[in-house]
Amino acid sequence: MAQATMRLEALAAPTFRMLSHFASPPATLGALRALEVEAFPECERLGAAFESVALQRTNGLLVAEVGDALAGYLLYARTASSGIITKVAVSSEYRRQGIGSALLHHGVRQLAAHSRRAPLEVFLHVDPSRFGALRLYENNGFEPYQRISRYYDDKRDAILMRRIIGDPKSESGEASARSV
Ligand SMILES: CC(C)(COP(=O)(O)OP(=O)(O)OC[C@H]1O[C@@H](n2cnc3c(N)ncnc32)[C@H](O)[C@@H]1OP(=O)(O)O)[C@@H](O)C(=O)NCCC(=O)NCCS
Repeated sequence: MAQATMRLEALAAPTFRMLSHFASPPATLGALRALEVEAFPECERLGAAFESVALQRTNGLLVAEVGDALAGYLLYARTASSGIITKVAVSSEYRRQGIGSALLHHGVRQLAAHSRRAPLEVFLHVDPSRFGALRLYENNGFEPYQRISRYYDDKRDAILMRRIIGDPKSESGEASARSV
């Protein structure tokens, strides 16, 4: 995480905040949909369902912003004892500057803050051909847990990766991402 923090210092101070049903301006939702189109092939997009899925009570939507611009987002779903990071995307303009790592860091802390059990298991799926994403997750403490055949489509498997948080309360620390 120290490396990601150093990188972010060189960037015009990105900020991180959770979005909620009550404070999600249409402009932000429009930018999120545009970034989804930029980052993911059609078969992996939520499209018109983005808002309803992202803002469900048991899901969380964390955004990274640089000034007024949306730089990236992370989506997660949570249960009492586990969390799953379902999407991470950073706009091409802002990649390799530590924002993906910072989103993971803050996302895990948000999941930890809501967890009532220890240890907390955090999972995510990755297409192993997405080398950059695989490296990002490995660098942030996720380890391969299981290979899932034909997860994305008939020809694309997924690696299910897992990170175990031994003490969710210490991981959640002080308030990290601002909730609105
Ligand atoms: C994957 C993604 C989220 C990475 O975001 P990012 O802000 O560029 O990530 P970071 O700058 O925090 O990168 C941290 C580390 O991850 C690895 N990494 C990230 N992108 C990489 C790439 N394209 N190639 C190789 N390694 C990469 C590197 O180890 C990097 O550290 P380094 O820059 O010191 O070498 C971004 O490229 C993206 O949105 N891609 C399209 C959507 C996607 O594939 N999402 C993940 C699947 S759900």
